[in-house]
Amino acid sequence: MLLVQSLNTPLRFQGTTLAAIMAKLHKDVEGLVTSLYFPDDHVRSALAYEPQMNDLFIVSYPKCGNTWLQFIVYGILFPESSSIDMKDFPLRMPFLEMLGADAALNMRRPGAIKDHFPFHRQPYSNHAKYIYIARNPYDCCVSLYYIYKWLLPDGKHDFTFGSFLEMFLLGEVDGGDYFCHVRSWYKERGRHNVLFITYEDLKKNTGNCILRIAEFLGCEYAGRLKEDKALLGRIIEMTSISNVQAVFGKGLFPVQTYLNLPPEKFPEHMYRTWERQNYNPTKLSFFRKGVVGDWRNHFSSDQCNSMRNWIAKKSGGEELMLVWKDVDLP
Ligand code: A3P
Repeated sequence: MLLVQSLNTPLRFQGTTLAAIMAKLHKDVEGLVTSLYFPDDHVRSALAYEPQMNDLFIVSYPKCGNTWLQFIVYGILFPESSSIDMKDFPLRMPFLEMLGADAALNMRRPGAIKDHFPFHRQPYSNHAKYIYIARNPYDCCVSLYYIYKWLLPDGKHDFTFGSFLEMFLLGEVDGGDYFCHVRSWYKERGRHNVLFITYEDLKKNTGNCILRIAEFLGCEYAGRLKEDKALLGRIIEMTSISNVQAVFGKGLFPVQTYLNLPPEKFPEHMYRTWERQNYNPTKLSFFRKGVVGDWRNHFSSDQCNSMRNWIAKKSGGEELMLVWKDVDLP
């Protein structure tokens, strides 16, 4: 069965169309598909942000490992730190479209700006650097599904993975069309100021990837890592999934600080969701499993077929999917 064939008929979900519910979680601002939670003026100012000399951006489609990369970059920039300082981190790592351009203009430096823009919408300068992290579409879809489960309003937590997959294949999710995004950056990977990495490579060859990232940031960072062998181990440990899960578990991740939004800018809907969760950051699935291959626990063989057809159609016949040739995908 091809899931995409049934998409002209809106799915029913607890008496409401799933599309209508999902539409509450993303929106279009100046042609950019983004989270409903981000104030329009922040998104607009983010799109218009003019990169400063030596700005560093960490870019991805949602749920591809952006936060992990932020932690790693923080560890490289501040080699003396033995843990992520969550009072300092948000001020050095602003989320551009969530917080708006002012957050980037006023950020502590050195730092890195997070965003989810496809290349053609990215504030771009030859004097800035861009690290793009891609993740295979199967695991990305699963990870995004869990965030939607958490974020869906009014406790509608029981919608199925299959229903979500249909929307994902249509690009009707926060982040928009997966391949439009990933391809846009893949095509630019040869630029001197773009580093294209994958979540899977970062997972498998963490040390090597951290060295590549450090070299990309500047020889002073790479030199330090090469000189101090223990440093690499410290960064790997500090940014490991078990460690960041433990940090979240201790409630040290200041979600409000991370967002840094004044109350009037905070969508009521988001407050309500968080109130329901009692602001308990352990329930926020930012650091859910952190593995490669969780797709196996979610995709039926029919759904794998749908994905394969979609990939054949959308990946552009390019070699993009080859970046995952060593990853066990259907
Ligand atoms: P899962 O939901 O599959 O666990 P983003 O930061 O772009 O939103 O990506 C979130 C995904 O990255 C989540 O995937 C999360 O668990 C994973 N992740 C976050 N920190 C990680 C780490 N230190 N190591 C491995 N994966 C990590």
